[in-house]
Amino acid sequence: MKLNFFERIFILSPFRSLVQRHLEARQLFDLGGLTAGKTVLEVGCGPGGGIDLIYDFFGATAVDAFDMDPEMVARIRQRKSYRKPTTHLWTGNVRQIPVASNRYDAVFNFGVIHHVVDWRAAVAEVFRVLKPGGRFFCEEILKHYITHPVWGRLMKHPQNDRFDRAAFVSALKHSGFDVRRIREMANLYLWVIADKPGE
Ligand SMILES: C[S@@+](CC[C@H](N)C(=O)[O-])C[C@H]1O[C@@H](n2cnc3c(N)ncnc32)[C@H](O)[C@@H]1O
Repeated sequence: MKLNFFERIFILSPFRSLVQRHLEARQLFDLGGLTAGKTVLEVGCGPGGGIDLIYDFFGATAVDAFDMDPEMVARIRQRKSYRKPTTHLWTGNVRQIPVASNRYDAVFNFGVIHHVVDWRAAVAEVFRVLKPGGRFFCEEILKHYITHPVWGRLMKHPQNDRFDRAAFVSALKHSGFDVRRIREMANLYLWVIADKPGE
């Protein structure tokens, strides 16, 4: 689902970059460590702050990234990280990632899967594209936020069948993930590290 006016302003703001760098990336690093020398995918990359972090903070060697909104993808083409020959970018849907199975060492999700109506299919698709032994770095927004009478109305999200922590962890396990570490903030935000079992 595309962002509404309010969420779009937030995602494109310098405040969003600060939150992503100083809160979200740090939580994921604390829980999941670095991706030094790895080939990484970011799903729903928005305007591209995550791509810079995956290189500069997590140490990845190559980053593929996509977003369903062509305007977001166009913004990234102006960023420094896009000029690296190791960055590949496209417009696409996390429900159907156009790459072979077992392709990536790690996948990052900064708050995208709660935008997907069939979010369990998105989780399964992330599992498919990870290599055996690969790691999913996941930051998500919980049902309590989405259905909140104030916060929930500021942004446009699918409302039916949203997930709380238990439902999200259950979907990860159902797809085959080993859930390694979980951190939750105020029943609003969730950070999860989940691994695809090795061969
Ligand atoms: C809350 S924004 C987060 C953007 C970016 N990850 C960040 O943290 O700044 C959610 C993003 O997911 C994208 N999106 C929503 N549904 C998607 C889908 N099914 N497949 C790919 N991207 C999607 C939106 O276009 C938007 O850029």
